[in-house]
Amino acid sequence: MNRRIPRGLFVTGTGTGVGKTQIAAALANLLAERNQIVRPRKPVESGCRPEDGHLVPEDARTLQAASNTDEALERICPYPLEPPISPERASSLAGLRIVLDDLKAACLNGVAETDFLLVEGAGGFYSPLASGVLNADLAAILPLPVLLVANDCLGAINHTLLTVEAIKRRGLALVGVVLNQADPTGDPRINNPADLSRWLGRPVIVTGRFETDAANPGWMMLRPALAPLSDRLADGFRPARL
Ligand SMILES: Nc1ncnc2c1ncn2[C@@H]1O[C@H](COP(=O)(O)OP(=O)(O)OP(=O)(O)O)[C@@H](O)[C@H]1O
Ligand SMILES: [Mg+2]
Repeated sequence: MNRRIPRGLFVTGTGTGVGKTQIAAALANLLAERNQIVRPRKPVESGCRPEDGHLVPEDARTLQAASNTDEALERICPYPLEPPISPERASSLAGLRIVLDDLKAACLNGVAETDFLLVEGAGGFYSPLASGVLNADLAAILPLPVLLVANDCLGAINHTLLTVEAIKRRGLALVGVVLNQADPTGDPRINNPADLSRWLGRPVIVTGRFETDAANPGWMMLRPALAPLSDRLADGFRPARL
């Protein structure tokens, strides 16, 4: 097994549907534009649509397009699964036994030392990913620094602080926290960026809400908010452990 620590990021969330794919795609695109060879990985994806006898992993497809890579979808997502449920349960229903070493090998497959490995987990940091494997286990074994995406809504402070605590417990570096407008915020008096940055003792990255536009993928609109982070990552910034 490969023992070197890869360059890259593990994109996790406070839960499912918070915007991990959109944020990862924007970042991948910015890094590719800065002459980085980006290797996106969504090692296991559930909720894949069957098409011509294959399962189509949409997240992996989005990451592939944003990274300007010619890597095959099968390498980006070697374990596509059909039911839109936890990948651990979906894989066991499909009669597959995916273990942590399989996921690690899938993430590192084809990744050179100078490449940028961008892994999107599934669900949240403690969501099950495979047989007895949480997202946290994969981030820790690679090991990769973590970018945490939260939906900017009521409850975001609790979800974020709990996840940061878990990342800290695994001894992983936290690259940043993104407050993303995956769902409209609700009460305009909520100010999660101000409150959360105070609780965390560090600034958070705030993205706006995009309207779906057939001409451009949504993540394009998230690029400006992520440009400072992509600059630092392209310059070789390595975040400290928590
Ligand atoms: N800033 C935003 N503005 C508008 N819509 C957004 C925004 N961020 C995400 N969305 C939408 O919210 C939905 C969920 O986003 P996304 O698929 O990136 O979440 P995810 O965390 O990757 O989900 P999963 O757990 O399924 O991988 C998508 O329909 C996406 O287009
Ligand atoms: Mg996703």
